[in-house]
Amino acid sequence: MAVERTLSIIKPDAVAKDVIGEIYSRFEKAGLKIVAARMAQLSREDAEGFYAVHKERPFFNDLVGFMISGPVMVQVLEGEDAIRKNREIMGATNPKEAAAGTLRHDYAESIDANAVHGSDAPETAKQEIEYFFKADDICSRS
Ligand code: TYD
Repeated sequence: MAVERTLSIIKPDAVAKDVIGEIYSRFEKAGLKIVAARMAQLSREDAEGFYAVHKERPFFNDLVGFMISGPVMVQVLEGEDAIRKNREIMGATNPKEAAAGTLRHDYAESIDANAVHGSDAPETAKQEIEYFFKADDICSRS
């Protein structure tokens, strides 16, 4: 299985709950190494650009409003099968459907305040990592 990188965001609801450390611990226990990280207060423009693929969806404005409601913690995770593994750790988009032991099951309140983001495919992972980090910001550990 190839070593991959994926973009993870701890969203404002989970930052406000002070569970950054708990979430990092889940990543590390699953073999996902944090190779870049920064906290950011996203602007409306940042959030709209990041979620541009959803701009025609009915939830777009609320999603952008939520993403700028407080600071987010953004990280690049590196490891074997990192994209799929991170999605598995996150759980389903709707926390009501998320499996026990997943981040969204444990920390998310609703589908629109759902604690974490994770890239869903290699191409989006590349684009999303480049949206937040320069190549020099990433310290490979593989
Ligand atoms: P999506 O890419 O479908 O999910 P995921 O984050 O699991 O990859 O949707 C992006 C975000 O949009 C999702 O995390 C929360 C928000 N969203 C809503 O607020 N309502 C919805 O009905 C959906 C599908 C998503």
